[in-house]
Amino acid sequence: APRVFSGIQPTGIPHLGNYLGALRSWVSLQEEFGSVLYSVVDLHSITVPQDPDTLRRSVLDMTACLLACGVNPDKSCLFQQSQVPEHAELGWILSCLTSMPRLRHLPQWKMKSQSQKNEGSVGLFIYPVLQVADILLYQSTHVPVGDDQAQHLELTQDVARTFNNQYGEFFPIPRALMSKCAKKIRSLRDPLVKMSKSDPQKLATVRLTDTPDEIVMKFRKAVTDCTSEVTYDPERRPGISNLVAIHSAVSGLAPEELVRQSRGLETAQYKLVVAEAVIAHLTPIREEVHRLRGDTGFLTGVLTRGTHAAREVATPVYDAVCRMVGLR
Ligand code: TYM
Repeated sequence: APRVFSGIQPTGIPHLGNYLGALRSWVSLQEEFGSVLYSVVDLHSITVPQDPDTLRRSVLDMTACLLACGVNPDKSCLFQQSQVPEHAELGWILSCLTSMPRLRHLPQWKMKSQSQKNEGSVGLFIYPVLQVADILLYQSTHVPVGDDQAQHLELTQDVARTFNNQYGEFFPIPRALMSKCAKKIRSLRDPLVKMSKSDPQKLATVRLTDTPDEIVMKFRKAVTDCTSEVTYDPERRPGISNLVAIHSAVSGLAPEELVRQSRGLETAQYKLVVAEAVIAHLTPIREEVHRLRGDTGFLTGVLTRGTHAAREVATPVYDAVCRMVGLR
């Protein structure tokens, strides 16, 4: 049976890239698929140093953000990864089917290991295998993610095939689901890199809780090129095309249509048009995040219900894996 799974790390308020590249489709998939699971993946976030109190708070903040974006706990199972111990347990079994060279070239390791002591932690190195376990633990078939997760999805497919070959057909081969224009939203300061939670430049990312003034300022300062015309050409004009892609995602209009409508506008004027469209789209979300954030009891309740529902799916799958491997 088709099943959707995806995850997000609880590291601060999500940005436009997270939202347009992934979270938005999480919401629409709830209507299309009967079985949908979304996880706040706290075990992944401790691969880089985290302050314990901040981490605890971030899990609840992320839960508030997901609900504010439209994740409906009556339609999808929303839970905290570490509350379902089978993620880590299956991760161990699958790590025994994964070679070191297969992991060494993955982006997370290449980017973050240099900044850690002693060449980087073992956890950071096997992080992608934990992600594979997240997906396979629910025998998932569809995984809505942004472009930066494509290699992790390929690894998931490889590991699923390896397991099936070695122990017998068991895991479906899961597919990534990506949005067409928004699968890679770029930094507003450097259109050659993706918008990223860890970007030290405050102006590079727009967060779901940014105020209208902050949003206007960030778009006004967005880096484009020296042509003042608005066109959509991601290869040759990544800066302005990123703004058109964002505009398209929040307005629902095709990039070509937006370019047509913007004929005669200078890029400086167009930036304000995009900022206004983003503000209109994010305002109800921002207000809902603020309303939910304070209600710790409610947020904890949602996660507790989600944990029970997730374990109901996970436990029989994990037991079957253990039997196939010879651990039962
Ligand atoms: P994370 O927490 O970094 O990001 C969450 C989601 O946001 C997408 N995303 C983007 N999409 C478009 N443009 C961008 N600039 C952009 N930046 C981020 C990501 O692709 C992701 O879909 N390893 C994962 C979390 C994870 C997971 C999983 C995902 C753990 N287990 C199982 C799917 C299935 C991560 O760090 O995402």
